[in-house]
Amino acid sequence: MAKKKIGVAIIGSGSIATHRHAPEYAAHPDVEIVAFVDRFPERAEKLAKKYGAKAFSKYEDVLDLKGVDAVSVCVPNAFHAPITIAALKAGKHTLCEKPIATSAKEAQDMISASEKSGKFLMIGHNQRLMPLHVKAKQLIDEGIIGKIITFRTSFSHPGPETWSIEGPTGWFFDKKQAFVGSMGDLGVHKADLLRFLLGEEIVEAAAMVGHLYKPMGDVDDNAVCVLRTQSGAIGSLTASWTHNPGEDNATTLYGSKGILRLGTNPQYSVVVELAGGEKQFYQVGKVQTNDEGGQSDSGVIRAFIESIQTNTPPVISGSEGRKALAIILACLKSSETKQFVQVEQ
Ligand SMILES: NC(=O)c1ccc[n+]([C@@H]2O[C@H](COP(=O)([O-])OP(=O)(O)OC[C@H]3O[C@@H](n4cnc5c(N)ncnc54)[C@H](O)[C@@H]3O)[C@@H](O)[C@H]2O)c1
Repeated sequence: MAKKKIGVAIIGSGSIATHRHAPEYAAHPDVEIVAFVDRFPERAEKLAKKYGAKAFSKYEDVLDLKGVDAVSVCVPNAFHAPITIAALKAGKHTLCEKPIATSAKEAQDMISASEKSGKFLMIGHNQRLMPLHVKAKQLIDEGIIGKIITFRTSFSHPGPETWSIEGPTGWFFDKKQAFVGSMGDLGVHKADLLRFLLGEEIVEAAAMVGHLYKPMGDVDDNAVCVLRTQSGAIGSLTASWTHNPGEDNATTLYGSKGILRLGTNPQYSVVVELAGGEKQFYQVGKVQTNDEGGQSDSGVIRAFIESIQTNTPPVISGSEGRKALAIILACLKSSETKQFVQVEQ
């Protein structure tokens, strides 16, 4: 008898659904995409037609639908919590896009809903699954650069207006739907990556976050943050929607025995420079982007499905999402208050 496939509904049929969730579910041999949802029905219909699924305009309608075991939440940030909580309550494993939510309370409510329902909650922090970052983590854990003393990480591009299905007038620039701009879109990715690579918590933040240049919207388009870890390492995180042209998506870690450069060399995505002068170069794939053809398999969907199949909690859990969000919230508060802020643990 054929193995029963895991039925999935994708809620939100915009760009991340189109470029990542839908093709990666469709490529998975054990998954069937059952439904697409979008508040603009034609967006759901377009994807439903392509993948042989049903289309809906209200997420509530797919939560009781026969054959739906899991959902992807691919909607604007402000709707992550209500939709995720409803899906978990309805007994669906839920993969929610980043940032997990718009507040610590919302994030905690999502985690509690997962615990109560016994269904998994995973957050789409794909950076730590990228081969260069997996390799970097292995090298760090082997102690190749010794104790990490300082670090810097940056994620920037010209802005989401060419990416989002809604263009320059879309939700990304609307505080009510996005809650935060470049910090929520890009900064939170690097907040998660830093926690993953450093293997410890960020405990304190100082930041300047501003709406410097974009003519539209009411959210930040640039952020420069200084962070301190539990063990006392200090470093910087920058996020920008105004680096034009191109994308900066790089991290450098400075340790007691050497330097680890990630995504800074166009040929070798991981470069180790040891204090004695020796250099090591690793070709482990580029930093993946969401540009056309830039990211064939983020690993996020495979990890989510594997969790369900093996009944193992996802590594990028709600709690991991909450901790990455806490760093962003501390940076926002620091910028507002012009004070150093402790990151809520
Ligand atoms: N992991 C990543 O690398 C990555 C990259 C881009 C976006 N994202 C995240 O994915 C999410 C979606 O972003 P996007 O780039 O696809 O945006 P998008 O603007 O391209 O699409 C969002 C879609 O959600 C729909 N929508 C809004 N509210 C809805 C609701 N209540 N019910 C159903 N549909 C609704 C909109 O109509 C739109 O079609 C965001 O949280 C964003 O932060 C993650």
